[in-house]
Amino acid sequence: MSSPRQIYYDLFSRVYDFIIRLHSRDVEGSLRGFIIAKANLFEGDRALDLCTGTGSVAAKLAGQVGENGLVVGLDFSRGMLEKAKEKAFRMNLKQLHLVQANASQLPFKTSSFHGVTCSHAFYELKGKERAIAIAEVARVLRVGGRFCLMEHAKPEKLIARLLFYIRIFFLGASDAKKFLEEEEAVLGERFKNIGKEMSPTGQSKVIYGEKGG
Ligand SMILES: C[S@@+](CC[C@H](N)C(=O)[O-])C[C@H]1O[C@@H](n2cnc3c(N)ncnc32)[C@H](O)[C@@H]1O
Repeated sequence: MSSPRQIYYDLFSRVYDFIIRLHSRDVEGSLRGFIIAKANLFEGDRALDLCTGTGSVAAKLAGQVGENGLVVGLDFSRGMLEKAKEKAFRMNLKQLHLVQANASQLPFKTSSFHGVTCSHAFYELKGKERAIAIAEVARVLRVGGRFCLMEHAKPEKLIARLLFYIRIFFLGASDAKKFLEEEEAVLGERFKNIGKEMSPTGQSKVIYGEKGG
């Protein structure tokens, strides 16, 4: 049975891409490009995009790894995955596969992926779920593989900041604010060579780390 959060995202999927385009005023494409550039993935690699939503990052990753590579877009919302499937079909991306699962229970073998990405979603996972998801990412990554997270930067304007925290509150991820302030340290507990960079627009940040041997 679907949880209230899955139902929320199933409904949201119908307008998600439209809202994002409206909100980001067409910087969307360059934001997606920013996380791909930091993901350290190459032709023929296998990549996992967690909480893939309508598959915008996964589609770009599919272009990056090419037809000899493989990308899995994972999400717990069937509605979001339907939209991602339409996108993959439209773009003829045979190397993009979509899986319905929870980010804290990854149905993949240990060391399956050269890289894992997650855009604008990891902070929404609740405390325990997020910690388990990090351990799962470390498990499915190959040694040297990079986990690359893109998150919202703290909104500058008061109203935007208020709306942001109201959304977090309603999603039940009460510790999201703390995570967004400490993400480097949190990733540092599991990964090495931690890096953090702001997107050229200043709207988002990418935080990454690599799996040690
Ligand atoms: C704000 S959207 C981001 C979608 C996409 N990554 C993007 O950048 O457009 C958050 C996504 O995370 C998914 N999600 C949230 N919690 C999840 C969980 N525990 N397991 C899998 N997917 C989850 C939602 O269904 C939704 O598609």
